[in-house]
Amino acid sequence: MLTVLEAINLSTEYLRNKGIESPRLNAELLLAEILGLKRLELYLAFDRPIQENEKLSYRQSLQRRGKFEPLQYILGHEEFYGLEFIVNQNVLIPRPETELIIDHIKSYFSKQKIEKVLDIGTGSGNIAITLAKEIDKVQIEAIDISAQALSIAAENSRNHNTESRVRFLLGDIFSEEIVESLSKYDCIVSNPPYISLSDYPDLQIEVKQFEPEIALNDKSDGYKFYRRIIEISNRILNLNGTIFFEIGYSQSETIAEIFNSHGFCDIKVFKDHSNIERVIQAVRCTH
Ligand SMILES: C[S@@+](CC[C@H](N)C(=O)[O-])C[C@H]1O[C@@H](n2cnc3c(N)ncnc32)[C@H](O)[C@@H]1O
Repeated sequence: MLTVLEAINLSTEYLRNKGIESPRLNAELLLAEILGLKRLELYLAFDRPIQENEKLSYRQSLQRRGKFEPLQYILGHEEFYGLEFIVNQNVLIPRPETELIIDHIKSYFSKQKIEKVLDIGTGSGNIAITLAKEIDKVQIEAIDISAQALSIAAENSRNHNTESRVRFLLGDIFSEEIVESLSKYDCIVSNPPYISLSDYPDLQIEVKQFEPEIALNDKSDGYKFYRRIIEISNRILNLNGTIFFEIGYSQSETIAEIFNSHGFCDIKVFKDHSNIERVIQAVRCTH
């Protein structure tokens, strides 16, 4: 019978031949999930025989990974800011660099009185739910155009007991009717689709083939959502309220100009751990 160690060695080879990066790590994480173990616990179970049903599930997972499906969709979950989030192909996989926006909102909240936050393009609900867990008493509304994404977000909110603090709304932020139905917030946060139509074809296969295009491609110049959110901010953001955006590579200057031309001040840009500008923050001062 095949043992854990033999299975890992064989599957590492399989994934390497398919061109998967870090094949051993992938092989271990997939097997650990199937056996209900933590990855490091596999090391204490090298001689454990693998049952037929486990072998079958493992083979299916490896075949999916071999076709470049992201590991997180196969595992069905991903960690964000120390919390576990359910993910599937209807939601963007939460990225580690998005954790930065949480740090900046938390630090801002420590100095200002904030009661209501709007998260635009909530996806798995990772930002909204994390803020509800991290910041006392704040009320969050979180909007997304995808009903399938919102059903995952609602499940994540139940799992983290934030249902009384996070309200999910289905809608398109470009719809006037939706904007009219929103209230006014002290803070707006958004990690919107910001890949331009022309850059979208250059994304990695894992991203392009498996993650929802609607979460990534703005079908325009990469600034469509920033422009829209800033333009409607006089209707949905209180005076002295703040917007926090996650931004893409080299987008900060143009977004700062849009903020400037709409009466925003105190514009700040923050870099991520790879030294890439990743978060922009601005305060609604006039209008
Ligand atoms: C980049 S993802 C962000 C997901 C999550 N907030 C995160 O940070 O990982 C953008 C999200 O915006 C949503 N979206 C796309 N177009 C939208 C629109 N017109 N109105 C509202 N949400 C939209 C997508 O469904 C997707 O969930």
